[in-house]
Parts: sequence; structure tokens; C-alpha cells
Amino acid sequence: MGNEFQVIARNDYSNKYIFTDVDELDITDQEAVKTLIQREKPDVIINCAGYTAVDNAEHDTDKADLINGTAVEILAKAANETDSILIHISTDYVFDGSSYTPYREDVPTNPISVYAKSKFKGEEAVFNLANRGVIIRTSWLYSSFGQNFVKTILKYGRERGSLNVIFDQIGTPTYARDLCRAIVEIIPSLKENWGVELFHYSNEGVASWYDFAVAIVELAEINCRINPIESKDYIQLAPRPFYSVLNKAKIKSRFGISIPYWRDSLLDCILKLKEEG
Ligand SMILES: NC(=O)c1ccc[n+]([C@@H]2O[C@H](COP(=O)([O-])OP(=O)(O)OC[C@H]3O[C@@H](n4cnc5c(N)ncnc54)[C@H](OP(=O)(O)O)[C@@H]3O)[C@@H](O)[C@H]2O)c1
Repeated sequence: MGNEFQVIARNDYSNKYIFTDVDELDITDQEAVKTLIQREKPDVIINCAGYTAVDNAEHDTDKADLINGTAVEILAKAANETDSILIHISTDYVFDGSSYTPYREDVPTNPISVYAKSKFKGEEAVFNLANRGVIIRTSWLYSSFGQNFVKTILKYGRERGSLNVIFDQIGTPTYARDLCRAIVEIIPSLKENWGVELFHYSNEGVASWYDFAVAIVELAEINCRINPIESKDYIQLAPRPFYSVLNKAKIKSRFGISIPYWRDSLLDCILKLKEEG
């Protein structure tokens, strides 16, 4: 996500952006976080950092908890001292997936993996500690940067004649570029008396990982057969929700934003990757 914000920043002359990666600022280092925030006094802090290795988190509980939970407490407290708004990214995985209808923000959570529990701790940190904050739950993030499902399917799709992909987990892919644009669009509406609020954001529409993979090879014109398989036939350490579609009515009505359909955004990302060679 951070890379997508950097692309936006290059063309945004009305705002000043400061980016840090883990080498410049470890968000688990309380003093370092405090020092940087005191020095820069940002209006808004956007936390794109996280421990995102969902399966590894199952045996790396303390690290996941530290980065996704404790560090958010540190950020929230530091943000209060400069009256900054903390925008924090959370996940559809805070739900257990037993719903049949898209999750609204007021539906009770039930995180079922270590990663999901650590992300829920981060949400609680913003709710309980931040004076001014926005939590945005998103799902199935991908981008032309870094490693993600789109890049993986493109790579293995080109290398192999067929791929097996789960068809019984349903959600919505989200192009990180769209999420970052939405965040930049909503920031001017966060007025002085803004408290803390939770929103859901993903691209529009619904897909299984199988549908997502089929679309990736189709749009990238790769000759690879995608075979639908059940989750029980693909061993993953961490349990995932079978259904985690997010309802985005709140963010759309509150800020008047429109959200692209997932296949349209996927095509944009694939074209961008093609351009970059
Ligand atoms: N990916 C998804 O499908 C998905 C879905 C829903 C929500 N989210 C949430 O969206 C956010 C962004 O996800 P993403 O996919 O963009 O993640 P990502 O590509 O894994 O990026 C996370 C970044 O956080 C950095 N980081 C890790 N520990 C840090 C620390 N202690 N201090 C500072 N930086 C640290 C990582 O640096 P290193 O690479 O050097 O470790 C990495 O650059 C995360 O909060 C994630 O939980 C992701």
C-alpha cells in the first residue's frame, strides 16, 4: 500500500507527504515514533505497516501481536500528542465468515486466526486510545508492487499449464491504488471535531479466489487452465473466513465516493504491469 501512496504523492502538489519504511522508522519503537511525530506534526498519519504473513503468524504470535497490535497503541498515543488523525488499515479477516450477506461495520467480529486476532487488537487500540482516527477494513489487497496473489498467479500461470485455486472462499479483491485514492479523497472531510470511526472498503463485486485467478489469466492473456479446488484440499496453516465480502454503503454515503468494480481495477493493474514489462 505504501508504494501506491508514493505514486499518488508524486502528482499531489497540494499536500506534503512523508514516507518511512521499517529501516527509517520501526513502528514498534515507541521513542522513535514519538520523536518523528513530534518533529513533523502531521495532520494525518496513515499506518500502512503490518505483519501480513497470515500463515506465519500462527507460529509467530508475539511478532504479529507486536506489529499489528502494540505498535498501533504506540501510534495512537503519539498521534494524540500532536492532535493528528490516525488512519489505520484493518482486514476482512476479523470476521469468521459465517455470514451470507456482506458485512456491515456494526456486525460483531470473531477473528479466527492469530493474524486476525492481532489485527483486531490494532482496531481496539485505535478505538480505545486515539482521539481522532479512521479504521478502514479492506480485503484481498493487490498492487503492481510487492508480492501478492495477482503477481503469484501471473508468475505461475506463465510457468505452468494449469493451477489449482480454492473456489469456496468468497470475498472481494481490492486494488491498493483504489484504496489509497479513496483515503486521499476522504481526508479533507475529516473536520476538526472528528472522533474515531470505522469504515469498510474493497472494490465492488464479489469473487472466489478461483474467479479471481481466472480473471487474472484471462485479462493477462495467459494460456493457463485454472482448476477449482476446495479449501480442505489446500492446506494452509491459518484458518480463513469462507465468506468475507464487505458492505461499503457507509463509506460511499458518508463521503460520496464511487468505487470501481474489481475486474476493471484488475485490468488496470495488469495493464500497468505490462507497461512496466
Ligand atoms: N494484503 C492483504 O490482502 C490485506 C487484506 C486486508 C488488510 N490488509 C492490511 O493492509 C495493510 C497493508 O497491507 P499490505 O498488503 O500493503 O502489506 P505489506 O505489503 O506486507 O506491507 C507491510 C509493510 O509493513 C512493513 N513493516 C513490517 N513491520 C514493520 C515495523 N515494525 N515498522 C515499520 N514497518 C513495518 C513491512 O516492511 P518489510 O517488508 O520490510 O517487513 C512492509 O513494507 C496491512 O495493515 C494489512 O494488515 C492487507
